[in-house]
Amino acid sequence: MIWPERYCRGRWCNIRAYVILIVAIWLFVFLDTWIRPKQPERQQFGNIKTQRVTPTNKEMTCMNGTGELSSSQLVITRTHTQQCDIVATMVQRYGYKHQLSFAIGQDTSVISHDEKFRRNMGSVVPRHQPKALQYTKKQYNVLASYVRFNKPEINAVVPNATYITVIVEPSYHLQYVFNLYSVDRSLHINKYRNPLEKFMETPQMYIDKRFKFWFQLHNGQLFDLGFDDSEYRLDRVKQKIVELERELDFVLIGEYLDESLVVLKKKLCLEWKDIMYLPIRNVIPENRRYTTETLRRQILDWNAADSLLYQHFNKTLWIEIGIYGPSFQSDLFHHKTSKQRLWDDCLVARSAVNDDIKLKPNAGDFCNFLYRSEKELWKVLGNKQ
Ligand SMILES: *[C@@H]1O[C@H](CO)[C@@H](O)[C@H](O)[C@H]1NC(C)=O
Ligand SMILES: *[C@@H]1O[C@H](CO)[C@@H](O)[C@H](O)[C@H]1NC(C)=O
Ligand SMILES: *[C@@H]1O[C@H](CO)[C@@H](O)[C@H](O)[C@H]1NC(C)=O
Repeated sequence: MIWPERYCRGRWCNIRAYVILIVAIWLFVFLDTWIRPKQPERQQFGNIKTQRVTPTNKEMTCMNGTGELSSSQLVITRTHTQQCDIVATMVQRYGYKHQLSFAIGQDTSVISHDEKFRRNMGSVVPRHQPKALQYTKKQYNVLASYVRFNKPEINAVVPNATYITVIVEPSYHLQYVFNLYSVDRSLHINKYRNPLEKFMETPQMYIDKRFKFWFQLHNGQLFDLGFDDSEYRLDRVKQKIVELERELDFVLIGEYLDESLVVLKKKLCLEWKDIMYLPIRNVIPENRRYTTETLRRQILDWNAADSLLYQHFNKTLWIEIGIYGPSFQSDLFHHKTSKQRLWDDCLVARSAVNDDIKLKPNAGDFCNFLYRSEKELWKVLGNKQ
């Protein structure tokens, strides 16, 4: 008996009550499936198809009012960081998918580690191809190789591009390059328990030795972005940051890579899978890390110009997130969950000991595409130039 006796009595009354109940349940289920937003499809990563980006089909695939920056002319200014490598391979994949042309160096991924870009630098095809074109003869869609930032010259080769870069927290950066370039061996301080600590006791003395990649160990990120003044006077540094603010369209922050990528996606009107990536390996061994807060502060003081740069663009990232609007959190959540799902689908579960990233044997095309190293991608792209 579900109908209170006060309102009705008898067999018919109960049947009517059941009918109303069934209709209500049916309506609820019906409305729920129709009104609820569609779940993202699980199988959203299929074959990698290529298609040319033109303003018109870009408008079609984009929601109205988004995509304020060009994605068919792109420059990523490389800093020496893993996070920047990750975004650079994204740019490579994006260029491949949309059949964009790349300005590349003799050694594809590297035009120069320590020289600023000039329009007549080297050739634009890999060595194994006989006919070397000069930069001055042609214009390109993308620049994603290592070379120091120099906007007027880059603009001559990759006109009207969107400029992006990725920077990381300076104390992390120092540990990373210290490890990457085996600075302890170059400086013969590898016998110390923590060579990084040894280096930080007298950094200027070591820098003066001009060892391999020395320029990466003192405000290396600002160096990559084209800063020349080795005195690091505060007014000059501040002026450079103001210039960069004007010259770069968006600076991603390595510590907030996913947040940055979600903003980038909107600015360039990308698809979710364009900003996918596989995990970043932890490559800094114990003995090349800072161990105390005091040492971290010392590293930040030593890289005071980079610290200023970092603080500035970390601030602008959060301003951009504010401008993005209230959908940011749910978009970020969507990105993070699909990234995690992709990792689960693509990768063999990692053990705590072995940090290696391995593809599952049956991983799909998209996993394989993401798994390709920068070198392998350059080979594919080089053959298409
Ligand atoms: C985009 O804007 C145009 C004109 O303002 C409008 O007609 C169209 O329906 C909009 N499209 C979408 C997908 O919102
Ligand atoms: C770049 O932009 C300028 C100004 O908008 C335009 O005049 C010029 O034709 C563009 N160049 C190319 C190669 O698209
Ligand atoms: C970056 O800026 C945010 C917001 O101001 C702040 O909470 C965060 O601590 C900063 N991150 C770093 C690593 O400085």
